[in-house]
Amino acid sequence: MLWLGRFFRQDLGIDLGTANTVIAVAGMGVVLNEPSVVALEKDSKRRLVGGSAVGKLARQMLGKTPQSMSAAKPLSRGVITDYRLCEAMLLAFMKKLRRQTRRSLIRPRVLVSAPIEMTAVERRALFNTIERCGASRSYLISKAKAAAIGAGLPISEPVASMICDLGSGTTEIAIFSLGDAVSSRTCPVAGDDLDRAIADYLKKNYALRIGLPTAEQLKLDIGSAVPLSQELSSEVRGLDIISGVPRRAFITSEDLREAITEPLSRIVAGIRETIEACQPELVADLAETGIVLTGCAARLRGLDQLLTDQLGIVVRIDDEPESATVRGMSICLDHFDEWKQQFLTDLRDA
Ligand SMILES: Nc1ncnc2c1ncn2[C@@H]1O[C@H](COP(=O)(O)OP(=O)(O)OP(=O)(O)O)[C@@H](O)[C@H]1O
Ligand SMILES: [Mg+2]
Repeated sequence: MLWLGRFFRQDLGIDLGTANTVIAVAGMGVVLNEPSVVALEKDSKRRLVGGSAVGKLARQMLGKTPQSMSAAKPLSRGVITDYRLCEAMLLAFMKKLRRQTRRSLIRPRVLVSAPIEMTAVERRALFNTIERCGASRSYLISKAKAAAIGAGLPISEPVASMICDLGSGTTEIAIFSLGDAVSSRTCPVAGDDLDRAIADYLKKNYALRIGLPTAEQLKLDIGSAVPLSQELSSEVRGLDIISGVPRRAFITSEDLREAITEPLSRIVAGIRETIEACQPELVADLAETGIVLTGCAARLRGLDQLLTDQLGIVVRIDDEPESATVRGMSICLDHFDEWKQQFLTDLRDA
């Protein structure tokens, strides 16, 4: 009977990110990776028909919708800010998942990722949303722990392993030893803040107004945390804030570096505080084991070098930083029955 149960069991891992939602199915690995965006009809406040205006399609609409529609993100800083939207988005993703996997996924057990620091109300909202999407039971794992498992860090050994997961809404920083976090925090500065800083910089220094998607594109094209051997440049189009007409400007990687200095220094400060709050014995380990960076924002040019220079510790970027969290969750699904006591559930939360 046990093997039958194993065959029919439908466990899902959902890395519910501010920018991207990535889902793994037990035994199948990662099967869905979509932007966490929903397009809505403005008047009815209902999701666009057909379930197609969710994810990639909805993301293309961000900042470009006519008056009758809006494209919105149900999460901010890693937590759900619009429960109804989040539920609609997850239901659409589940539908897509059923089509892709040809599994019925009826009443699955769901492991969901969450920031280290969140309020009891935010946690309850997360459990409720997951259960309203049809989960028989929901379990929670911190993004940092999942990313550390996904990056292959030996977190259960009596040695310090440090992870820094740089996402879109938050930077999750944690030091693990003997299976648990010994020092950890959610730093409320991440990829989105770099985009905002770039848009602000252009407004202040070039009198040019650009949207956040354009600021993000500039970051991807020419952004860097340290001086480059060959500096980059790019043309950007925006609105002249004085004349009110469209205008172009040439921006260099040096400009961008100046723009993102402040948010990057706040991330460095968050890492420093996490290390300072750790026992000296474990800090000594870190000199050997270093820090592993995960999350898409870890791909910013030279970020590893900046952190190495400022913290004096070896910093390494995971080979596939964007998927470390969901890979860790996929490993958790493979050991679900053995490990499930370690995950937070709604009952134990009470
Ligand atoms: N090559 C790159 N260089 C710099 N930043 C990048 C690059 N690729 C993606 N990003 C940034 O990474 C962020 C998205 O990262 P990720 O998908 O890990 O976030 P998330 O998991 O959805 O968010 P969170 O975990 O904070 O809730 C965005 O801010 C994006 O601009
Ligand atoms: Mg993330």
